[in-house]
Amino acid sequence: MFSPNSLQPRMMLVNRFSCTLKNQSVKIGHCSKVPRNVNMEKLQHGYLFPEIERHELIHIKKYPNANVIDLGIGDTTKPLPTIVTSSMVDFVRGLSTAEGYKGYGPEQGEKALRKAIAHKIYKNLDIKPSEVFVSDGAQCDISRLQLLMGPNLKIAVQDPSFPAYIDSSVIIGHAGKFVDRIGKYENIEYMTCGPQTDFFPDLHTISRPQLIFFCSPNNPTGHAATRKQLQQLVDFAKVNGSIIIYDSAYSAYITDNSPKSIFEIPGAREVAIEVSSFSKFAGFTGVRLGWTVVPEELLYSNGFPVLHDFNRIVCTCFNGASSISQAGGLACLSPEGLNAVQSLVDYYMENARILVNALTSLGLTVYGGKNAPYVWVRFPGSKSWDVFAGILENAHIITIPGSGFGPGGEGYIRISAFGQRDSIIEASERLKYLLYQEGL
Ligand SMILES: Cc1ncc(COP(=O)(O)O)c(C=O)c1O
Repeated sequence: MFSPNSLQPRMMLVNRFSCTLKNQSVKIGHCSKVPRNVNMEKLQHGYLFPEIERHELIHIKKYPNANVIDLGIGDTTKPLPTIVTSSMVDFVRGLSTAEGYKGYGPEQGEKALRKAIAHKIYKNLDIKPSEVFVSDGAQCDISRLQLLMGPNLKIAVQDPSFPAYIDSSVIIGHAGKFVDRIGKYENIEYMTCGPQTDFFPDLHTISRPQLIFFCSPNNPTGHAATRKQLQQLVDFAKVNGSIIIYDSAYSAYITDNSPKSIFEIPGAREVAIEVSSFSKFAGFTGVRLGWTVVPEELLYSNGFPVLHDFNRIVCTCFNGASSISQAGGLACLSPEGLNAVQSLVDYYMENARILVNALTSLGLTVYGGKNAPYVWVRFPGSKSWDVFAGILENAHIITIPGSGFGPGGEGYIRISAFGQRDSIIEASERLKYLLYQEGL
């Protein structure tokens, strides 16, 4: 049986030829004189999702004939709409012609795409195309924003949350020491977001952060913050002089009237940056395309506009998203493209409904699945990694242990609804059988 401890740092085992250092096997040969980045040393384990893949590979080796269903990482599985691929194909063919060839584009993204994002995704919100920076994905922009802000800031994150916020904070140098006893970094404020507080932090208990990472709908809980909650967050940031880095990667999945953007909230332009992505709403996880909005009104403590510095970071450290991906992104935002990607969103949300129904029929407490393609299931009294291991061993289904998203996720697992329909139905049946007949 898998032991949760295997994700913890191991003792450094050194022999003449190799050592194991925090789960990474390193060949010892010639050593440079360059010291390891102390912040990299502070990372507690491998990034969550490759760790899950490692477990999947071990399982497949153990059960080569098992039909393993992957509802873990949250990768999309449906083919891209033809309107999107054909626009990329046309663009690529053009690259072989004198008229169609294009080299470097603007670092901030093609004008037409910046305009389409500003006017179609943020309709009626007065976002200017010049405030939109097209990128190769939200995750890359999260790290660029860390670089922009520099080290040693007091940061706050939702607990549980998408692991890139904490890991990139450790790498840039905000985090301080990891405190084993509580499973947290000493300088990071973990804002507990559980069902007791409607998945929103009790802001009275949070001490003045400089940067607040906030994701809605949240990965992993699937909770979309309400307008009232987001207004409280914006007001809190204003009072404390904080900047919110708001991740709206799943906003297309919102089905109720929760805000799809932080910029729907009065006052947000003075306190927030929004990162977002084509990955989950248009199936671009492999194509790679995202964007970040930095409003003109967002200023540093000395009055300098953040937008100017982000432009500098993008020019110096990025050089622009692939022109092929941008052609595809533009097609997604055409009227026909928007309809086509909406049907992908609807498909995954129907998957989520099937999973939620199966799990609630077992009497389990289930969250998410209404405004996000993630189902967040509670297993009171159990350790997440044990539940993950039990489901993998007995039902051959990959999920994600909730504690991988922070201490606040202990006792939960996350199930992704991004699978193909037949896998979702099969997984629901296996889970019903396993959890009803045998328990865990
Ligand atoms: C909340 C959140 N933000 C960002 C990302 C990464 O997005 P991208 O593929 O655009 O890098 C993910 C991916 O799972 C995510 O869950």
